[in-house]
Amino acid sequence: MRRVGRRIRSTRRAGAAALLAGLAVLFLCRAWARQSAGSSAQKESPTGAIGADFPRLDWQPTRIPAGYRYLGDSVCAACHAAIARTQMVTPMGHASESVADCAILRAHPRLSFHLGPYRWTITREGNASIYSVTDGKNTITVPIAWAFGLGSAGQTYIFLRNGHYQESRVSFFNDTQGLDITLGYPRTPPATLEEAAGRPLGEQEAEACFGCHSTHAITAAGQLQAAALTPGVTCEGCHGPGSAHVAAVQQGQIPFPKPGAPPGPPPPGGYRIFNPGRLSAGDVADFCGSCHRSGVMVQLLHISGVLTVRFQPYRLELSACFDPTDARISCLACHDPHQDVVTDPSFYDAKCLACHRNRGGAPVTGANAPACPVATRQCVTCHMPKFELPGAHFQFTDHYIRIVHPGDRYPG
Ligand code: HEC
Ligand code: HEC
Ligand code: HEC
Ligand code: HEC
Ligand code: HEC
Ligand code: HEC
Ligand code: HEC
Repeated sequence: MRRVGRRIRSTRRAGAAALLAGLAVLFLCRAWARQSAGSSAQKESPTGAIGADFPRLDWQPTRIPAGYRYLGDSVCAACHAAIARTQMVTPMGHASESVADCAILRAHPRLSFHLGPYRWTITREGNASIYSVTDGKNTITVPIAWAFGLGSAGQTYIFLRNGHYQESRVSFFNDTQGLDITLGYPRTPPATLEEAAGRPLGEQEAEACFGCHSTHAITAAGQLQAAALTPGVTCEGCHGPGSAHVAAVQQGQIPFPKPGAPPGPPPPGGYRIFNPGRLSAGDVADFCGSCHRSGVMVQLLHISGVLTVRFQPYRLELSACFDPTDARISCLACHDPHQDVVTDPSFYDAKCLACHRNRGGAPVTGANAPACPVATRQCVTCHMPKFELPGAHFQFTDHYIRIVHPGDRYPG
């Protein structure tokens, strides 16, 4: 019963937000769409830090609120050294890279791929990488402007042609250490040489691309400013611009904690920086979902079937386990966004067992959910199955936690 009730509630909530957001920019529907539909993130912030310093209504991790200055992650690293050491080398921290700094392009000075009459090559020349495609008669040659994606699956290239950003038709894939067709394109030869080179991104799509994969890319007025952005999802990509926070520390308004002392109350006036750790599980899912795609965004994008396995917030919210008020099922219960994702399945057992320890007798509640009749460890190997998307060269983990029977269709 409880499960059904929760699902209906979340569908209705998503529906209302979708209506609002549908009027706004389609692609960039953000966590705040739900805020404006009447959520209570500000009330849930015990320090008022978000409300006071960052009007949550305007909060978008990938947009620049007017009047705030970005300092860059080397400034944050000076005081938060341990966090910076691990965060700056995560895939998220390198979600985009300049061509000069791109490790993959540096390590592979010549890449090539062919399909039908077309041959693509990427050649390193000093600090630049040149992308070219030929059909044997004509050739298109452009310098790559940005590399998108570092991690587990692969890397797609962005270049400027005829005044538009374009997405490369071929991408680098980690499993084969070579080029192949970019995820989402057919594996048949394109009709024209222009199409073989890539696909021009509309203005909003380019903003969305850079918004999710870099920091400081979009102005307060909503314009893409590619020249000023910082590649990757850096500290201020999630915490927002840090100028007020650092000034307050320097003026002694935010003291350093004494070593070994228990955490004290927040300073008067708050920390002057947004800390997503103070959000409820439901709001964290929306916050991470502003890039990883929440249920609202998936509805707007009209994507269904196994392609949605990439959208962890949407999938998690479908689970009977998900309770937007319970921190034990927050993204942050299982992931530290400052560190690489943990690939050992045993790591997650304690996360599941925080709720699933009821071996009969007591009534089932969120705090006392039933134990598994089948196994006591490696829970995620059976209940969070992995799916390979065609052409993705990568297995995604389905965050719709559930009982999986052999031969089941992909639900949702
Ligand atoms: C001059 C030192 C200094 C610099 C530079 C600095 N911080 Fe902090 N930061 C602190 C102190 C002190 C605290 C409060 C005690 C603590 O949590 O360590 C803090 C706390 C925080 C918190 C927790 C807030 C909360 O609500 O609990 C976040 C998030 C944070 N800093 C992010 C950043 C980011 C992002 C940057 C770079 C833009 C940055 N800091 C730069 C000293 C600094
Ligand atoms: C500003 C956009 C943005 C936000 C906000 C964001 N992410 Fe990400 N995240 C990305 C992108 C882009 C990637 C892909 C990086 C890559 O592989 O190049 C990614 C990758 C990841 C990965 C896989 C990394 C790995 O080690 O393989 C995890 C886990 C993750 N994010 C968790 C989170 C969580 C949890 C939150 C919320 C606290 C969050 N993300 C918020 C953009 C974002
Ligand atoms: C709404 C936010 C969003 C937008 C818009 C977006 N991405 Fe991503 N992208 C992500 C997240 C989150 C991931 C990590 C999870 C995944 O692989 O789906 C990712 C993953 C990737 C990866 C695989 C990275 C890896 O290391 O495995 C590539 C390549 C990529 N994106 C390129 C692009 C390009 C090019 C565009 C624009 C045409 C784009 N993305 C638009 C959020 C976004
Ligand atoms: C992908 C989003 C993301 C990025 C990028 C990110 N953070 Fe965080 N940060 C978070 C979240 C979410 C929390 C809350 C963690 C929790 O409570 O479990 C947090 C918490 C913190 C805190 C509070 C103390 C703590 O550990 O909970 C500090 C300080 C902080 N971050 C600093 C940084 C610095 C410095 C960087 C860059 C080197 C950075 N963060 C990059 C999402 C991010
Ligand atoms: C916040 C507490 C919580 C956490 C954490 C949690 N669950 Fe659940 N889970 C529940 C609740 C509550 C139910 C619904 C129980 C019921 O109504 O019988 C549930 C249901 C399930 C079901 C049955 C689903 C169905 O469709 O019948 C499975 C399987 C499950 N959880 C596995 C897991 C696994 C594996 C993990 C860790 C990856 C996990 N859960 C984490 C609370 C949680
Ligand atoms: C109950 C634990 C749990 C929760 C809660 C959880 N995850 Fe995960 N997540 C996992 C596991 C397990 C993996 C797979 C790790 C591996 O084997 O690489 C994973 C992997 C990922 C990845 C890497 C890509 C993939 O699909 O394998 C991303 C991105 C991610 N999670 C984002 C999120 C976000 C965003 C949230 C919140 C909406 C979230 N996760 C909540 C357990 C969890
Ligand atoms: C080898 C695969 C496997 C592993 C590992 C596993 N489970 Fe299960 N689990 C199942 C199957 C199959 C069922 C369905 C059993 C049935 O319907 O009789 C199930 C059922 C459940 C249920 C539903 C129970 C109910 O009474 O409704 C929960 C909750 C659950 N598992 C949680 C977990 C947790 C937590 C772990 C880790 C401690 C775990 N599972 C490990 C296969 C597994």
